[in-house]
Amino acid sequence: MNKLAKILRSPWTKIAVFALCLVPISLLARPLWMLATTGYSPDLTANPIEYITHYTGTWTIRFLLITLSVTPLRKIFNQPLLARYRRMLGLFAFFYVCLHFLTWFVLDKFFSFPEMWADILKRRYITVGMLGFAMLLPLAVTSTAGWVRRLGFVKWQRLHRLIYFAALAGVIHYYWLVKSDVRLPLMYGAILAILMLYRLAARQLARQPAAPRPVTTPNTASLPD
Ligand code: HEM
Repeated sequence: MNKLAKILRSPWTKIAVFALCLVPISLLARPLWMLATTGYSPDLTANPIEYITHYTGTWTIRFLLITLSVTPLRKIFNQPLLARYRRMLGLFAFFYVCLHFLTWFVLDKFFSFPEMWADILKRRYITVGMLGFAMLLPLAVTSTAGWVRRLGFVKWQRLHRLIYFAALAGVIHYYWLVKSDVRLPLMYGAILAILMLYRLAARQLARQPAAPRPVTTPNTASLPD
């Protein structure tokens, strides 16, 4: 086994990746504590709700794209063990979108369902954001090995392609909500387009019939007369 494969197989690497995925949320802990105890935290700016909404939204789109990068990286670098990390990264994308949604629903809408519906119907970026969230829900629920068995691998894989559409909804959501500078949403959109094109090209290549084998003439010298 090569060195990289050994690292990827180690349970310590999994723990390290898990801890790394918790860094963004842990960076919020201190300023949030400061806000709760003193009523103000310079890190969270003058509008903490807006800051937290943007922060968790940014980490959602990043985790979605990191999750989608696992398969291309696995294939390009021939590292099948990278697949062990895909589920964890996808669940972290879901974790951050839940925080993102809850920041909006709890701190902005104060648990008001009528206000929530009104916003979903009124603002197109909220509509498409909710669509992305709704697509991620069944993926999180069916992420266990038990669900792979229950659905069968082919059906399960087909369902999990929804992550591309959830990421696309996230990019459109971001593009629609920014007022003027669209560089960041366009950058995330370009990364997503590259990942989608890679997937399509890989599928197309896999569908092509295998190249004919070279015709080998039997070594007659070794055959009995
Ligand atoms: C796939 C799902 C989603 C992704 C990837 C996502 C991503 C983002 C991103 C990247 C931002 C902007 C961050 C920045 O400006 O730095 C953002 C902002 C925001 N998102 Fe989401 N989001 C998603 C779903 C949702 C949902 C379900 C809601 C609520 C229903 C929501 C509500 C908001 C709001 C209110 C803002 C701030 C808008 C403003 O500045 O006026 N998002 N989101």
